[in-house]
Amino acid sequence: MSENLFIPINETKEEIYNNLLPQVAALIEGENDFIANLANVSAALHETFHWLWVGFYLIKNDELVLGPFQGSIACTRIGYGKGACGTAWKEKKSLLILNVKNFPGHIACNQLSVAEIVVPIFDANQNIIGVLDIDSDKHDELTDVDVFYLGKICQLITNKLSNFFHV
Ligand code: SME
Repeated sequence: MSENLFIPINETKEEIYNNLLPQVAALIEGENDFIANLANVSAALHETFHWLWVGFYLIKNDELVLGPFQGSIACTRIGYGKGACGTAWKEKKSLLILNVKNFPGHIACNQLSVAEIVVPIFDANQNIIGVLDIDSDKHDELTDVDVFYLGKICQLITNKLSNFFHV
């Protein structure tokens, strides 16, 4: 795979994601190390969208533990049902939080974060294994379009796990 990401300019968000998805698929296709793939996916998303923070939390025992990310240092452990990430884990569904001040129990790892998206990641058997977390310092940056396409990014990760375990 190419180690350079092609990022179109002056395109719609949908076009940027549609351009990014096959590149992410190619990025993780030839590598079976889960952490290496999450590291590159977080870098690809950050390089493309320049969000305040983008990264993964992985379920270990009864907590979410910080995984590969791009951005400033972050909380290392989040309990089940706690904060946005723990809530997405508990509810097994994506969250779009347009104003973190309105989300009860939100965990502020970075005071600059004002909006957030959390997308659950499932394994090949549909068991939740972690979450993808995006933080923004702008109120109008994150939308349903991001939730939709970030779900597709997480599906690529699931597909990769599925292929890996079934070959
Ligand atoms: N805000 C998250 C914590 C993780 S950081 O944003 C990186 C939450 O409420 O779960």
